[in-house]
Amino acid sequence: MRVTLSFEETSSNDLSVMVDALRASTSITAALNNFDEIIPCFSPENAFKINKKKKGVLAGERNGVKIKGFDLGNSPDSLENYEFSDDEFKRLILTTTNGTRVLEDIKSTTIIGSLINAKSVAKHALNLSKEHIDVVMAGRNGYFAIEDFLASGEILYWISKEIKDKNDFKISEYAQSAILARGDYDKIKEAFYNSYSGRRLSEIGCKNDVDYCTQKNITDNVAIYENGVLKLV
Ligand code: MLT
Repeated sequence: MRVTLSFEETSSNDLSVMVDALRASTSITAALNNFDEIIPCFSPENAFKINKKKKGVLAGERNGVKIKGFDLGNSPDSLENYEFSDDEFKRLILTTTNGTRVLEDIKSTTIIGSLINAKSVAKHALNLSKEHIDVVMAGRNGYFAIEDFLASGEILYWISKEIKDKNDFKISEYAQSAILARGDYDKIKEAFYNSYSGRRLSEIGCKNDVDYCTQKNITDNVAIYENGVLKLV
């Protein structure tokens, strides 16, 4: 088994774990407590079009802020607690700046990882993968995002702990660095709040979302992306 860490694009044809810790991955993971499926869309226009055909709840953000005409933004808490009217389907149509864009280009089987489900993601990755797990940090508009690196480190830590055949385990030095960085949970939380996205979310009144996204291993939910739809594995 080979385990690697990448930025924006996967290097695996086998299994990828997409990580956008603030907030897309966390929102997708939390939303599956409430919605049966999520259709990730790559632009707001596309989301409106899909919603006409498939009828769902429209959610998403650009630059952190809810998109005009959408039902919801990208807050994990509000997706998880959304109350459906009688005629609504439990289908979420979601577009986000980085997370859903990165998903568009991944060709391997893909699951969604964050700090809130890191341990469970690691278990599913090992079950689903035949030879190569690549953890892919979504980043922010082409830039490195510390929260994605640290959440990836937590996932990689659990993968290296749970792997059965230690003799057949090769982990890249990039991935090892992320594991070393994930050690001190207080410092990780601090880094989430002080990150570019963490500060931006606090500025626009979404600090509670950062609180949500910094929780570690609070759920077993893991989303898998198949045929254009995200569902629980
Ligand atoms: C993204 O996909 O870029 C993020 O989730 C942005 C956000 O929700 O603030």
